[in-house]
Amino acid sequence: MSEVKCIGILTSGGDAPGMNAAIRAVTRTAIYHGLQVKGIYRGYKGLVSGEIKEFKSQNVSNIIQLGGTILKTARCKEFRTPEGRKQAYENMKKEGIDALVVIGGDGSLSGARTFAQEFDVPCIGLPGTIDNDLYGTDTTIGYDTALNTILNCVDKIRDTATSHERLFFVEVMGRDAGFLALNSAIAAGCEAAIIPEFSTEVDQLEEFIKNGFRKSKNSSIVIVAESELTGGAMHYAERVKNEYPQYDVRVTILGHLQRGGSPTAHDRILASRLGAAAIDAILEGQRNVMIGVQNDEVVYVPFTRAIKKDKPIQHELVDVLKALSI
Ligand code: F6P
Repeated sequence: MSEVKCIGILTSGGDAPGMNAAIRAVTRTAIYHGLQVKGIYRGYKGLVSGEIKEFKSQNVSNIIQLGGTILKTARCKEFRTPEGRKQAYENMKKEGIDALVVIGGDGSLSGARTFAQEFDVPCIGLPGTIDNDLYGTDTTIGYDTALNTILNCVDKIRDTATSHERLFFVEVMGRDAGFLALNSAIAAGCEAAIIPEFSTEVDQLEEFIKNGFRKSKNSSIVIVAESELTGGAMHYAERVKNEYPQYDVRVTILGHLQRGGSPTAHDRILASRLGAAAIDAILEGQRNVMIGVQNDEVVYVPFTRAIKKDKPIQHELVDVLKALSI
């Protein structure tokens, strides 16, 4: 492999708090090791269209505390075609970029894997998504901030739910993963979480009702993970209206506010650590791996493994929630 002298960096897919901290860490670590850095705007779209600019240390000043991504992000159809990827490769060569750092979720890392296979380009992925659904890392950049945002919202909903003695279904993001739903339900002291991982095993609404939530409480909050597999919060509210009309039901869909806000200390540290490790990995000659943290140690996870969509939910947490919600 030829020596890497210039790194391209991009953020892709849904933005996540901490992406800016990762951009800063990649840029500064690369410069520290004598490499040149180029920022690619709007994810793969900017690689295809050539929206690329050299980044110096000052370009990433004062961004560690900001949510979103200063590089912007996009979901890019062109990059899904061989012609689009060829154009992207030509732009990379034109700009003198020898290796890519991609910050994003499973779609973004799948794109990097295909690109690396086709053009023999060293690509390093950083897990940037609030969904926490990448295998091989204990948490993803943005997940902790989103969890805390949900917690703040649910604490507020609790006030009104208690006052009116209502049953609330609160829908949270996560695409097809229940990490945000299950962990926010535990942290906010909720009565149940309805998650995609269990959608085919049991009728989760029946389970919740059977658990006897009205024995000791007059109000309840159930967190529902958005997903076609669960049907979402509206689906359960409709069911309760029809099957248990005695309950006064309301729905809150938290939506995109979960993706915003200043990153927590956890996400800033994780992003800084992973960003620095991405450059170390490139200098070691690693390619086509995602950098993760497992048991507080930096690890390299092959793209194919990271994106397999089989990161397991911890069953122990499901039992904890059940026991604590009596
Ligand atoms: O992957 C992050 C995520 O926020 C998911 O939780 C959600 O399903 C999706 O992105 C929403 O995407 P968009 O912003 O394109 O509507």
